[in-house]
Amino acid sequence: MQQKLRITIDWNTELAPMACCFGATGSGKTYLVKLMTGKLVKYGKAKLTICDGKGGGDFDFLKGCERYAAIEVTDVFNNFYQSFLARQKGEDESRDIMCLLFDEWSAYLDSLDSKKEVEAQRKKLGQLLRLGRSFHVHVIVGQQRMDSTYFQGFRENFNIAIGLSNLSKESRDMFFSEYKEQMEPDRARGTGYMTVNGASFTPVAVPKVNDLDKLHRAILAGVTR
Ligand SMILES: Nc1ncnc2c1ncn2[C@@H]1O[C@H](COP(=O)(O)OP(=O)(O)O)[C@@H](O)[C@H]1O
Ligand SMILES: [Mg+2]
Repeated sequence: MQQKLRITIDWNTELAPMACCFGATGSGKTYLVKLMTGKLVKYGKAKLTICDGKGGGDFDFLKGCERYAAIEVTDVFNNFYQSFLARQKGEDESRDIMCLLFDEWSAYLDSLDSKKEVEAQRKKLGQLLRLGRSFHVHVIVGQQRMDSTYFQGFRENFNIAIGLSNLSKESRDMFFSEYKEQMEPDRARGTGYMTVNGASFTPVAVPKVNDLDKLHRAILAGVTR
């Protein structure tokens, strides 16, 4: 039997600060985004803000933290945006990594009452994605389907796109249109494909986390830093 070659992927966060992870429910998106933010805290000393647009307990270990919210996340998201603006306007000259993890962005937009509000919040995310990099502002988004309605005009600002398990047609067309014929329809939970700046295409397997509590403690440290 042919052995599959596995290589650890280096994440150059300076070149690729913006990431999105997508896939069906249960495909391992939250698991992956937790791992990515945990690494960013450990190796990049990142300050985290975490918004969970769906709720369901994935981030219960952050309950009570000022830079964390589940379901009703507008204030926490707006605060992150304001911190970005403070850097942009020169009021805050620090450049330590500031990362927003927004799990289930689409669920959040769908939960908003008016189109106007959706438009306003989407515009903020767009600005963070377009302009964040030079201020060391990172954004990681997880959600089920990457429909263009949730990212009008700025989905190409995601440097890293990771699709887990078998993808919807929209998600495939959006990020992997050039690579469709190389995609096998047999991806299990925690496996899928990645493209970086649209210029590379790599099958990926998310490593197993041996100590989830330790990862959660690292994330908590990032949220309270
Ligand atoms: N790479 C992985 N290795 C081991 N378990 C995983 C992996 N990815 C996900 N899981 C487990 O599978 C379940 C679903 O993962 P989750 O990240 O919540 O999916 P999603 O956010 O896509 O709905 C969770 O119990 C999680 O711990
Ligand atoms: Mg999830």
